[in-house]
Amino acid sequence: MAENKGLSRMLTLEVTRVTERAAILSAKLAGRGDEKAADQAAVDAMRTELNKLDIDGTIVIGEGERDEAPMLFIGEKVGTGKGPKVDIALDPLEGTTLCAKAMSNSLAVLAMAEGGTLLHAPDTYMDKIAIGGGYPEGTVDLDAKPDDNVRRLAKAKGVQPNEICVCILDRPRHDEMIKAVRSTGARVTLITDGDIAGVIYTTDPTTGIDMYMGIGGAPEGVLAAAALRCIGGQMQGRLVTDSEDQKARALKMGVTDFNKKYTMEEMASGDVIFAATGVTDGNILEGIRQVRGGFTTHSVVMRSKTGTVRWVKTLHKTQ
Ligand code: FBP
Repeated sequence: MAENKGLSRMLTLEVTRVTERAAILSAKLAGRGDEKAADQAAVDAMRTELNKLDIDGTIVIGEGERDEAPMLFIGEKVGTGKGPKVDIALDPLEGTTLCAKAMSNSLAVLAMAEGGTLLHAPDTYMDKIAIGGGYPEGTVDLDAKPDDNVRRLAKAKGVQPNEICVCILDRPRHDEMIKAVRSTGARVTLITDGDIAGVIYTTDPTTGIDMYMGIGGAPEGVLAAAALRCIGGQMQGRLVTDSEDQKARALKMGVTDFNKKYTMEEMASGDVIFAATGVTDGNILEGIRQVRGGFTTHSVVMRSKTGTVRWVKTLHKTQ
């Protein structure tokens, strides 16, 4: 049956091909201590694969602004130009340091959405809070204190606060937040990098993580919101624009209200497909494995329109 609106479902497989390729090529550089080279390999692979697709794509979240990034810059057109108009948000190698040091949880990530439906987030920080699905709307709030959010979530989950686990990026800027969360008895899982995965953990009971909070990249915030739109959950974010440079970056992206609290739907409003492939082994995805005759990849691809979440294991034969 023909679909009347939204993205073609065929694109779910196509975007997975893109993240798979980026993951394979960056994984070859895992553990070699060269973040730039690993990132560049992922960028090159994503760009090559995207340009094979029959889409009229515009990068809305990419490697940076046009004058800073030669490839996959914000505004760059990708695809053959023959297909539907789509917005693309990508992070070819999320966790460049993790990959360079062969540490867990680096990913190749991409979201594709109907044109004009993804927030054009500037390359600044974003204050974020996220929880998984199944809770009443407004269970937690970015403007509530961290310890209050723990208590609110515990109440909604029907457990004591000391049974809640919060994932936070391990940064000095979060010291007070970590203290406040722990003051309730809740546990904190600290991650050194990779907060897209940090947000996704809240949707997977096997991770034991109930909530993500703290300040990370704004582009990563939009990618995480796209994932949560598909898999279910709640998220809010607010840009951190303390300096004049950050304000200028935000203005360039069309942001005029620097204090706006974005809902998940405001960050990713249309039909969206989200795909991620593991580069190094992680909590939710296996990394690239070299096997006789090729490589295996492990990906997750999801779509907001149907809520379908596919876990895809692929054998790629080396030619
Ligand atoms: P990169 O892949 O660009 O290195 O980003 C990793 C990351 O940990 C993100 O997941 C996170 O949003 C951001 O960096 C946090 O920034 P910072 O390291 O400056 O605190």
